[in-house]
Amino acid sequence: MPNHSILILPGDGIGPEVMAEVRKVINWFATHRNLSFDVTEDLVGGAAYDAHGKPLSDETMAHAQAVDAVLLGAVGGPKYDDLDFSLKPERGLLRLRKEMDLFANLRPAQCFDALAGFSSLKPEIVSGLDIMIVRELTSGIYFGEPRGIHDDGDGGRVGINTQRYTTEEIRRVARAAFDLARKRDNRVCSMEKANVMESGILWREEVSWVHEHEYPDVALTHMYADAGAMQLVRNPKQFDVIVTDNLFGDLLSDAAAMLTGSLGMLPSASLGAIARNGLPKALYEPVHGSAPDIAGQGKANPIACILSFAMALRYSFDLGAEADLVEGAVEAVLARGLRTADLLGEDGTEPVTTSEMGDAIVAA
Ligand code: NAI
Ligand code: MG
Repeated sequence: MPNHSILILPGDGIGPEVMAEVRKVINWFATHRNLSFDVTEDLVGGAAYDAHGKPLSDETMAHAQAVDAVLLGAVGGPKYDDLDFSLKPERGLLRLRKEMDLFANLRPAQCFDALAGFSSLKPEIVSGLDIMIVRELTSGIYFGEPRGIHDDGDGGRVGINTQRYTTEEIRRVARAAFDLARKRDNRVCSMEKANVMESGILWREEVSWVHEHEYPDVALTHMYADAGAMQLVRNPKQFDVIVTDNLFGDLLSDAAAMLTGSLGMLPSASLGAIARNGLPKALYEPVHGSAPDIAGQGKANPIACILSFAMALRYSFDLGAEADLVEGAVEAVLARGLRTADLLGEDGTEPVTTSEMGDAIVAA
């Protein structure tokens, strides 16, 4: 059996609390499925700063480059707010993303039936929803030159940002999306504004090129991103994988996340180039932060972090059946009515603790 290596970086606040529940799931696979992961744990963010004065040590960075998957909790907290910019906890996460060259950000929007009432849309529109937005993360308008604010020479000012994409930047994120689609429902919808932007024309041409030459078995459609935004709230279940640029992906993935409810439920992944064993470099993390307001109280919902591990199973280790098992267990405990505090209204139901939720998922 291959040796699946995972580096766990719990980080700060509720990070260690939710990661402890992921550990239980990992241990379950070792005990019950003879599936053992080579797990090591290290520090990131404020925890790393406290230990050695930096939000990510060179040793930890090298280790992250060497493993099959990195699983991160969350970083940051009020204790670190006054630190110099270069020492802030989030710099540790940014260094990981940059040095691992994680160019494809994966944000699933998955609706568990028991929580369909949480959505701002009608339950029948979101029930059973399972889509994946792939956002290009390291290029585009947030990075393009020229940029800046200048005098316009006429007494006013001008603000400039540049949308810039190269062939290779588009092709590599397109490949990531097509690879994912093959592990899902085999459909990709690419979104840009080829009607008004040259970078959008190139995007459409290059995604089509990758499709034609490398992934003709996957169904590909194109949509203008504004029309895509409408379709996402009108009938989100029509999509499987959506691939789009950094700016449109930022907006569309946040909107899609809210189709399904609570921050405590949302996993994510960031993938880089194929490194070894044909696996992409990968970092998995919940979308939420360190939640200092509830840290240390046993209130955190561990599901976002557990679902991030399920993504690692599916996309880094090609263990789709095992990922289904974890997601099915989450579905089952929610269907039984188990709720952490963030998933409860004012109806007087008693919330379960972080640890009780983790135990219930493992039992299921
Ligand atoms: P946050 O995501 O930590 O919290 C926002 C709200 O959601 C809070 O009320 C919190 O209690 C709640 N919440 C978040 N995750 C939850 C969970 N798993 N279960 C139950 N409730 C949950 O965002 P906020 O408050 O803006 O930032 C707090 C700290 O986290 C800051 O230092 C920020 O820089 C950092 N942060 C780190 C991120 C990361 O590590 N990727 C992402 C976002 C923020
Ligand atoms: Mg955003």
